[in-house]
Formats: sequence, C-alpha cells, structure tokens
Amino acid sequence: MVALCVLLTLRSCGAFTCPAICRCSADTFQCSRDTQLAPGMNSFTVGSYRRLTHLSLKQVPSHAFKQLINITVIEISQSDRITLIQRRAFLSLHSLAEISVQNINSLRIIEKGAFTDLPKLEYLSISNTGLLHFPDFSTISSFAPNLILEMADNMRINFIPANSFQGMTEEYVDMNLVRNGFKEIKSHAFNGTKLNTLILRDNKYLSYIQEDAFEGATGPSSMDVSSTSLSSLPPRGLRQVRFLKASSTFALKRLPPLDSLPELLEAELTYPSHCCAFHTWRRKQRESALKNFTKICDLSQTEIEPTADDANLLNEINFQYPDLEFDCLNNPFVKCTPKPDAFNPCEDLLGFPFLRFLTWLITVLAVMGNLAVLVILLISHHKLTISRFLMCNLAFADLCMGVYLMLIAFRDYLSRQEYYNHATDWQTGPGCGIAGFLTVFASELSVYTLTVISLERWHTITNAMHVNKRLRMHHVTAMMGAGWGFSLLVALLPLVGVSSYSKVSICLPMDIDTLGSQVYVVAVLLVNVVAFCVVCYCYICIYLSVHNPEYSTHHGDTKIAKRMAVLIFTDFICMAPISFFAISAALRMPLITVSHSKILLILFYPINSLCNPFLYTIFTRAFRKDVCLLLSRCGCCRANADMCRSQTMASHLTFTQKTSNRKPHSLSFYAYHIKKGCFLNKGTT
Ligand SMILES: *[C@@H]1O[C@H](CO)[C@@H](O)[C@H](O)[C@H]1NC(C)=O
Ligand SMILES: *[C@@H]1O[C@H](CO)[C@@H](O)[C@H](O)[C@H]1NC(C)=O
Ligand SMILES: *[C@@H]1O[C@H](CO)[C@@H](O)[C@H](O)[C@H]1NC(C)=O
Repeated sequence: MVALCVLLTLRSCGAFTCPAICRCSADTFQCSRDTQLAPGMNSFTVGSYRRLTHLSLKQVPSHAFKQLINITVIEISQSDRITLIQRRAFLSLHSLAEISVQNINSLRIIEKGAFTDLPKLEYLSISNTGLLHFPDFSTISSFAPNLILEMADNMRINFIPANSFQGMTEEYVDMNLVRNGFKEIKSHAFNGTKLNTLILRDNKYLSYIQEDAFEGATGPSSMDVSSTSLSSLPPRGLRQVRFLKASSTFALKRLPPLDSLPELLEAELTYPSHCCAFHTWRRKQRESALKNFTKICDLSQTEIEPTADDANLLNEINFQYPDLEFDCLNNPFVKCTPKPDAFNPCEDLLGFPFLRFLTWLITVLAVMGNLAVLVILLISHHKLTISRFLMCNLAFADLCMGVYLMLIAFRDYLSRQEYYNHATDWQTGPGCGIAGFLTVFASELSVYTLTVISLERWHTITNAMHVNKRLRMHHVTAMMGAGWGFSLLVALLPLVGVSSYSKVSICLPMDIDTLGSQVYVVAVLLVNVVAFCVVCYCYICIYLSVHNPEYSTHHGDTKIAKRMAVLIFTDFICMAPISFFAISAALRMPLITVSHSKILLILFYPINSLCNPFLYTIFTRAFRKDVCLLLSRCGCCRANADMCRSQTMASHLTFTQKTSNRKPHSLSFYAYHIKKGCFLNKGTT
C-alpha cells in the first residue's frame, strides 16, 4: 500500500501553497484521481508525513478529495479561514484510515454527511476547532475493528445530542472526548454504539450525564470522568464498566447505587470514603455467595488487603469444601484508590453503638442543663452580679458545645450505615464548618471563663479586706470581651485556612499538614494546659486562704476540699487525656488511631460542658433560690417557694454569722458559693 498524503510544503511561515495533487482556485480546491495521476506524483515517499495546512480557503467543499482512492491519511490543520466543511467533503474514500481536523479556530460547522462511506476509517480526530455543534458521524459506516474517535478542545460544543455515534461503525469504538465545552450528555447519546473506552476527562463544564445516556449502547468497559463537574453518574448503563476513573471530580460526592457497577474491577476516585462503599458492598456480596456455597473468590488474586476475618472465613470454607470451584472473575475485590486512611476510616461518624448512645445522653444533658441555667439566670430579675455574669458566659459556651454534639449526633443518625456517601458532603460542607466553629469556640470560651472564674474568686478572697482592690463589673466585662475575641479568633482560623475542620468526621481541627496548622493546634492545646494549671493554682490558693481557721470551721474545710477536688478532677479528665494524645498527634507522633481518639473526644471533651452547669450553678444554693423566687413570681407552688425562700435566707444568715462579720457581702457570697454549692452535699441540704 502506498501511502499517499495530501501535501503541503511550507516554504514561508503561514503561506498556503496548493498541494501538487490538487487543483486550487481562489476559494476552493479539489484533489482528484486526475491530479493524483499527474506526472511526478509517483515519487511520493512512503511513510513521509505530509499535511494540508494553512489553507487560505473559506470552506472544504463537497467531493474535495474525490477519487483519491488510495489515500490513507488526510490532515487539515492550522488554518484561520476555514469556517465550513461541506457535506460529502470526505466521500467514499475507501482506503482512508485517518482524518485529522486540527487547530482551526475559525471552523464553525461540519455539515451533515461530511464524513460518508469511509469503510477503512480507524482514526478520526477533530481537535481545537470552533465548532458550534456536535458533528454528524452517522454516515461513516466504518468496518475497522476498532475505531478511535478523538475530540479535544472544542470549547463551543455545548452538549452531545442523542444518537450522536449511531452509524459510525458496527465495531467497538474508543472515544477520547477531552477538554471540550460539553455541559451535558443527552439521553440516548451513545445509542447503537459499542463503547470500549470512554474518556470524558477535563470537560470541566460537564455537569450532567442524563440517566438514559447509555441506553442502547454496549459498554463502556472503561470510563474516565476525571476533572469534570459531574455530581452524579447515570444509574443505568454502567453495568459493564470495569475501570472507572473519577479523580479530581470534586462534585461527585455520591456514587450511583453499587449494584449498577457489578463488573467494576478498579476504581480511581476522588474521595477515600467512596472506596469504603466498595469494600463493604463486595463483602456483603461475597458473604451471600458463601452462604450459597457456589462461588468463592481466591484471596490470592485480590488486590485490596483482605481483613483478618475475611481470610479466616475463606480458610474455613477452603478447609471444609476443598473441591469447591473458585471463580474469581465473577466476584473479585475492587481495587480502589485513594484508600481510606487514618483520617477517613470506613466507619460511621460515631463508629460504635455505645458511643452513639452516650453521645445522645451527653448531648441531652448538656443542652438541657445549660439552657436551664441560662434561662433562669437571665429571666430572674436580679441585679446582674459578676458571678451571674460569668455563669451566663459559661453556660452559653457549654450550650454551644451541646449544640455541637447535637449536630454530630444528628448527622450520625442521618448517615448511619452509609457514612461514606455522606462523608464528603458533610466534611466539606457548611455543616462541619459550623460544628467545628461551635466546638472550638465553646471549648475555648469555656476554658477561658473557668479560668476567669477561678481568678476572680481567688482575687476576691485574698483581697477581701481591701474594698478598693475588689474587681468591678467593668473589669470582668473587659476580661470576658477579650475572651470572646480570643475564642472567636481561634475558632475562625480553621475556616480561613489555618488547619481545617474538614479533615475528620467529627469536625475538629485535626489538620496538621502545614507548619502553620501544626503551630495552631499545638498552641491551642498548650493554652488549654496553661489554663488548667492556672485554675489549679487558684483553687489551691483559695483553699489555703479559706483553710485559715479564722474564717471557717473544720467541717467546712473538708467540704471545700471535696468540692474543689471535684472541680479540678472534672477539668482534669476533660483536659488531660485529650491534651496528651492531641499534642502527641500534633507533633506527628500519634499514639492512638483516629477511631479511638474519636471515643476519647466525644466522651471526655464535652465533660466540662456537661458538668459545669451542675457544679457551678444548678447545685448551688444561690441558683436554687433563684429558681424558687422565679417559681413564686409565677405564682405556682407558692407555698413551696415561700418555704424555700425562708430556708435559703436562714442558711444564708447562719452562714454569714459563722463567717466574720467584717467581711463585705461579696466575700460571704463566694465563700458560701464554694462551701455550700457542691453536689457532693446536695443530699444534706
Ligand atoms: C491504488 O493501489 C492499487 C494497488 O494497491 C493500484 O493497483 C492502483 O493503481 C492504485 N490506484 C491509484 C489511483 O493510485
Ligand atoms: C436508538 O437506536 C435505535 C436503532 O439502533 C432506534 O430505533 C431508536 O429509535 C433509538 N432510540 C432513540 C431514543 O433515539
Ligand atoms: C444465593 O441464592 C439465592 C436463592 O437461593 C439467589 O437469589 C442468589 O442470587 C444467590 N446468590 C449468589 C451470589 O449466588
């Protein structure tokens, strides 16, 4: 076979010379048997690559290549004038194997039937043109065993219409449709074709493949939708897909039902959580197969690491049924990347049932307790004392923590059993950002307020004698203002790129990939440790000064000691394990897995929020007095209220009598607060 190529020798850059085998006029040209047979044409060198470039014509006319019956390659490229390829431009070229139409930005239209009767065509490329519509391939009728269709960089084609590839060939087609302007693929687009590979990579506007797009088609067996805007894959038509590639397809947050991908062998996806889906699904399938004792897959052929119990199960079966036929083709594991990692394990948000139960319990208690405290403190018409003000802040912070837990628990409830399908939506969506913001804000504000409370008590007690040294409301307000500012800042940083809430399912800033993030996380943890030390120090000082026999009885001492022990203990169990493991993890020496740290975090982290309203407010006399007064104001259970008012008054009186009369009121209030308010002695009051 002599490869005759349409020729143009570039003499000067961009100049058009009429190919020697063609006849050219001002705005059209024709290459025919006559011109081809003209003297000199036999000297074409076999295999030399010649092409038709820099044509200065407006259109490629009908029958342009008429009777070039032995031609195998036609390439039209590098023109800035061609706008149209007419119908029958490529008609009945029975040896033509390759057509390339490339780099013609002015090309707008390829008329219907431009490619007609090309039985040997095996490669058709239309790239980097200004085409407005998907070209018509319906009359190609190639018999080549494997046609390759390439369409790239045609940014003005908006969609692939129905039956686009009908009539192209009866054989298998590889389609390479990359970097086009497609936004949509219509239903029945691939009707009547046998698809081998379908590459839709880098069609960055492609956001929708209609459900029936693959109706009437065979295949594809390999599909690539990487770097597109697809948010879903069609649930039908993927039955033969063996290789699916969808990396950097960030909008594809949900996979189609896995039963619609029964043949899948290998998947390269964007999000690790999706690989969990295949893992669990295949497992289920395999288990049901094992039950039927029909098909069992040989683990030696598997790609994904089988878990220990998989192996055990199979060994058992192997042992019990040695003659069993192992049919791996029908039931292999799916090789899926990216693999789930420590931060994205294949488990539900709250992976363990007891964790789920405890989370709800803690959530309900924390929300109810703190709401009750807030409501009572705010609607009881007492003067807002420093203590009440601080309690309000504390309750608000702890309420935020309760809301965070509620968000997590609720999300867990919504996504139970199939968190992998929700993981990306949740972790990259606004929900996780809000939850993360709430929890960091809450914990920082809570720790800060606890520190201020301790400092303030300590200050008040040590400076009880010096009236002019007492803290005033505006001091405390300023301190709390700073606390709010600090907490807001710390909680906002992960939203603006320093660390991130989207790394783990429980939305804590566990991202330490950059140095900035690492510094942030370690700094926050250290601040908490320092705050804890300050609280301890303050309580020890308070204890030592109240311990002074001049102020109190021996009996009171033990109570104070107990109460402080409780306060410090809850603070400690909340802080210590988390800080310890978190600091180790933040320094990249993780001692426990994320799954385990989840237990730690969900159970210990909110303990302060759970206990604070009870320790600091609800179990105190002052608070109960508030409740009583409130109830009496409402008119309900008046008798009861009267009783409790008189009771509290009495106890207050006896207490102030016990303590030194010289002390100003505030001291007695705080001393009383510490001494009497503990839930340890709630039974006795
Ligand atoms: C085409 O090739 C065949 C042999 O493959 C030859 O007999 C025939 O003359 C060629 N036709 C033209 C027009 O070159
Ligand atoms: C799909 O192609 C078949 C022929 O192969 C045709 O009869 C049918 O109408 C096409 N379906 C649609 C919806 O165009
Ligand atoms: C197992 O058996 C049931 C019916 O007994 C059948 O519907 C199912 O398809 C079988 N599963 C496999 C994997 O063979």
